Amino acid sequence: MKARPSSCLLLGAPLALLLLLVFVLPSHRTPQLGSDGRPGALCGRRPSTTTNVVAVAPPQDLEPELSLLIGVLTVPSRRERRDIVRMAYALQPPAARARVDVRFVFCNVTDPVDAALVAVEIRRHGDVVVLDCAENMNDGKTYAYLSSVPRLFAPAPYDYVMKADDDTYLRVAALVEELRGKPRRDLYLGRGFPVGDDPAPFMHGMGYLVSWDVAEWVSGNEDIPRSNGTRGHEDRLLGKWLNAGGRGKNRYNLKPRMYDVHWDVDNFWLDTVAVHRLKDNRRWAAVFRYFNVTAGIAPSNLYHLP
Ligand SMILES: *[C@@H]1O[C@H](CO)[C@@H](O)[C@H](O)[C@H]1NC(C)=O
Ligand SMILES: *[C@@H]1O[C@H](CO)[C@@H](O)[C@H](O)[C@H]1NC(C)=O
Ligand SMILES: *[C@@H]1O[C@H](CO)[C@@H](O)[C@H](O)[C@H]1NC(C)=O
Repeated sequence: MKARPSSCLLLGAPLALLLLLVFVLPSHRTPQLGSDGRPGALCGRRPSTTTNVVAVAPPQDLEPELSLLIGVLTVPSRRERRDIVRMAYALQPPAARARVDVRFVFCNVTDPVDAALVAVEIRRHGDVVVLDCAENMNDGKTYAYLSSVPRLFAPAPYDYVMKADDDTYLRVAALVEELRGKPRRDLYLGRGFPVGDDPAPFMHGMGYLVSWDVAEWVSGNEDIPRSNGTRGHEDRLLGKWLNAGGRGKNRYNLKPRMYDVHWDVDNFWLDTVAVHRLKDNRRWAAVFRYFNVTAGIAPSNLYHLP
């Protein structure tokens, strides 16, 4: 067949213009990594509402490939821990081409002092979610979280919903790289907790994620609360429910890249996705040193640190 260059050119010009509109123009929205007003937004398209942004992510010239909501389950009284965890997320390198939001998740705040301080925290950081569950609840909170998210975030759903502990250091960019080529549906990923021959009948509570459709399934399954399925070891029970319902079949075990820190705080490694049991400041200090979070400090004659 004979080529017709003239019509190619005619078609080519509008096509080039279209490509320019679609692919080039969005790149002018330079996302910013705020360690101030919106530390939960590691990257993505959220417009910055504050002016004192201290860190700027490299320009991201393409739309996000995936989106992830990370809910850090905590309680109002653990303010110092929350401050550390918030900084730990805010100071991470941005995950390329991903929309990642971190939220601190509470049950009902009933104490008036807590309520005032949480209100101020919400004003300052805007990264808090208060669920309709009892504040002193130890079991059932993960279920309350996973089952509320599809409704609470319905206007802007995520691909994945993660639950994380407040004694877990999660390396978001490493996690996002793991997710990039994985299915967006029917997924259940974390550190498998082996039982018998099964390496991952459920995921360790340090942090795991499910795809949005799985969160919706949990949310819509009324058998779970009715059969006391939210009592007891919640993380195990979630696995039990998913197994019974034939959900989360795209299952990924990130062991050993997700692990517990040893008492001597000497078992970090470069390939880490998450390190857990950071139960005191000494352990967080070790994490910040090992993962070079402390190394980013600018030289100045205003401070001197050992
Ligand atoms: C949580 O607070 C809301 C609003 O104050 C109330 O309606 C609800 O009953 C409370 N839920 C629990 C489980 O305490
Ligand atoms: C749920 O728990 C309550 C109290 O612990 C018990 O009375 C009830 O029989 C349980 N229901 C089921 C379906 O297991
Ligand atoms: C921290 O920085 C040092 C020196 O640049 C480097 O050798 C090490 O791999 C870094 N650690 C991590 C976890 O990236």
